[in-house]
Amino acid sequence: MSEKIILTGDRPTGRLHIGHYVGSLKRRVELQNSGEFDKIFIMIADAQALTDNSDNPEKVRQHIVEVALDYLAIGLDPKKTVIFIQSQIPQLCELSFYYMNLVTVSRLQRNPTVKSEIQARNFEASIPVGFFTYPISQAADITAFKATTVPVGEDQEPMLEQAKEIVRKFNSVYGEALVEPKILLPDNKACLRLPGVDGNAKMSKSLGNCIYLAEEPEEIRKKIMSMYTDPNHIRVEDPGSIEGNTVFTYLDAFSRQDHFERFLPEYANLDELKAHYQRGGLGDVKVKKFLDKIIQEELEPIRNRRKEYQKDISYVYQMLKEGSEAAEKVAAQTLAEVKQAMKINYFDDENLIAGQQEKYSEN
Ligand code: TRP
Repeated sequence: MSEKIILTGDRPTGRLHIGHYVGSLKRRVELQNSGEFDKIFIMIADAQALTDNSDNPEKVRQHIVEVALDYLAIGLDPKKTVIFIQSQIPQLCELSFYYMNLVTVSRLQRNPTVKSEIQARNFEASIPVGFFTYPISQAADITAFKATTVPVGEDQEPMLEQAKEIVRKFNSVYGEALVEPKILLPDNKACLRLPGVDGNAKMSKSLGNCIYLAEEPEEIRKKIMSMYTDPNHIRVEDPGSIEGNTVFTYLDAFSRQDHFERFLPEYANLDELKAHYQRGGLGDVKVKKFLDKIIQEELEPIRNRRKEYQKDISYVYQMLKEGSEAAEKVAAQTLAEVKQAMKINYFDDENLIAGQQEKYSEN
């Protein structure tokens, strides 16, 4: 009887890249098309993006449509999936405000993702309150839609833990009004956190080591051909290492059996290719060319679909507007239930008025 509902989202601070794609985006499309879910909500988290980009609203604003185009390009379908903008749902702020009473400062300080983001942004001495409390607002995002399933990357695990704690606390204090969400991580280990093309553990725009979903074929090829491999694998005959070798990590994430049959039939599968590399006698260029074919094939339809949608940006905005309106209705319903549970629904509680009247009629 209970519904299966997905909510997830992205901060609009840059175009989406293949790390997002294998880590979460591709899965979303599969989940959408599986027909197993009653409702799917995908949110462009502009308000959350502003918690650490408060001085740059223009950047956030510009990237909303970029992210929406990437969504449409990968095959998210507004007929099946509600795509909306976080800031357009005022109920999320109200929910956050009440959840704040259920979370301690020390609990937020222990959140590992918040901790590492504070370091990365040099916020140590002056953490914006809004940034510090964004895990609470993320719990509001999730619970407003009664999400049962939240497909995200590994870095979001602490956020989900914190959301679950808020749900349990709320339900135990005020009565069962909120649904406890479950995280859905990629099942392929290489997809949990795809490294940058330079071998850096994090793929990020500032490091310039991303392959974007909308990247042109020539750029993709250049990035793959200059990818970090095994620095000690100098001559083809040398034995090579697979560990920390970005090309092989990408093959772990992207290659399938049929790629070998079509593009590299002299190897039965990835294990054989790896074994040859480790033995020596297999050059980087050959492996990179194989990877290039796979990535090109994966990204071509995405890039082409994106170009179609780019011709009609006003459609994209209209879609986001309709999505936001639909999302707001759902969030409003949850907020009403939350207020009822918290007994702050004064004006539609006839018992409250009658009870108080009685108090004064007694004598
Ligand atoms: N924190 C997520 C990110 O950085 C974005 C996000 C905001 C989100 N609210 C969410 C993800 C709710 C899942 C559920 O990518």
